[in-house]
Amino acid sequence: MAEFRFVRSAAWDFTDRGDEQMTVQKSVAGDFERFTRVLPRGSSTYSKVPLYSPDEPTAILRGQGCRVWDVDGREFIDYRNGLGPVTLGYRFPEVDEAICEQLASGIVFGHPHPLEAEVGEMLQRLIPCAEQVQFLKTGGEAIAACIRLARHYTGKKHVIHVGYNGWLNALASGAQTLPGSRADNRVPGVPDEIGSLHHAAAWNDIAVLKMYFATYPDDIAAVVIAADYTGMHEGEMYYAEVRELTRLNSTLLVFDEIVTGFRIAIGGVQQYFGTTPDLAVFSKGIANGMPISAFMGKRDIMQGCCEGVSISSTFGGDTLSLAAARATIRVYERHNVVEHLWKQGERLWGGLNEVFTSYHIPLAFKGFWPCPALVLEDGAMGAIRDTFLRLSYRNGVSLYQVPYINYSHQDADITETLDRLERICQEMNGDELA
Ligand SMILES: Cc1ncc(COP(=O)(O)O)c(C=O)c1O
Repeated sequence: MAEFRFVRSAAWDFTDRGDEQMTVQKSVAGDFERFTRVLPRGSSTYSKVPLYSPDEPTAILRGQGCRVWDVDGREFIDYRNGLGPVTLGYRFPEVDEAICEQLASGIVFGHPHPLEAEVGEMLQRLIPCAEQVQFLKTGGEAIAACIRLARHYTGKKHVIHVGYNGWLNALASGAQTLPGSRADNRVPGVPDEIGSLHHAAAWNDIAVLKMYFATYPDDIAAVVIAADYTGMHEGEMYYAEVRELTRLNSTLLVFDEIVTGFRIAIGGVQQYFGTTPDLAVFSKGIANGMPISAFMGKRDIMQGCCEGVSISSTFGGDTLSLAAARATIRVYERHNVVEHLWKQGERLWGGLNEVFTSYHIPLAFKGFWPCPALVLEDGAMGAIRDTFLRLSYRNGVSLYQVPYINYSHQDADITETLDRLERICQEMNGDELA
């Protein structure tokens, strides 16, 4: 077993960061209340709010490769990766150099920059459905753009959502309003008139889709699907069946590839399973953490953008994100990043599944190795997962319910993580489950 290196000290390595950083660190450390006083939920991104204080970081100050350092000076091997977008690693040299080089020429202009066409052409080449592409900043707004285009193209009103498609699109009762949480009935803040046009369907449930097509004959504009993490393998049949059903009903099929793109395959589940949607959205992973999203699809549908469907944003196509995207895509193509995400994911999550089994911990990582979900085995209580996640933080591993490998997780990092987490399981086996 490798030496356990987690240090819980207040010692800081801020030699290159200056006094200002130290001041930030001192005023924020351990004080999440400060965040809740100014931000309604304590963070602009709900999934970043710490659930396991004081073991979980209150705030992160910096990252390098596959590690992050929090405001209390603690180091973590990180599997949250900015909640998905950091696919190569923090401060990845080629990407950071590309950003700095572009910064010297300007961030955003009042006319297009050549990078907008160049990165668009790269996506056209790499993503099966991408006959035309347009850039925005977030995943949710790009899905909203697809819905607008689909309604215009089909002249129909209703939209079916499978999985989480971003907060802007959480409009249906029963829909996922955040990753991992669901509206019981109507979604607060959504008038019935709008909510009644949006419908939630469970993953891999063809019967419920057929029911909606029967209930709203010839009035469903789009089926928007984000793959289910634990059931992703079912995509093989499910996507093909939904493709057929949507074709029969003249409804557009939209793939939310915000997590699956640049992770399951560069071209997402459509490349992996071989089913081509009419429209798709990519975002996390395009630019190793720079904020960018792209919606894309068949040329005649995308041409809606020239027919009065105004989808436009000042920051769509900013040069720093595009420079980062070009550099990231080049790294993906040169080094087979996707293979790395699968291979290291299998070593870590598959290895941990064996550890769970041998210590009788009723937890498992299920799904495809680049983005599996941590689930409870049948009959297990949620408290066991909470204990595991809390102890992971305490032992210097930052996990998430859908944890992500990045290209900077090398063999030694995986071994170290496995060692740390095995010690936790030993501890839990002895103390918590006795
Ligand atoms: C599958 C999926 N769709 C859509 C979104 C929304 O993207 P954004 O937060 O960039 O709006 C997310 C974000 O986590 C996501 O995981």
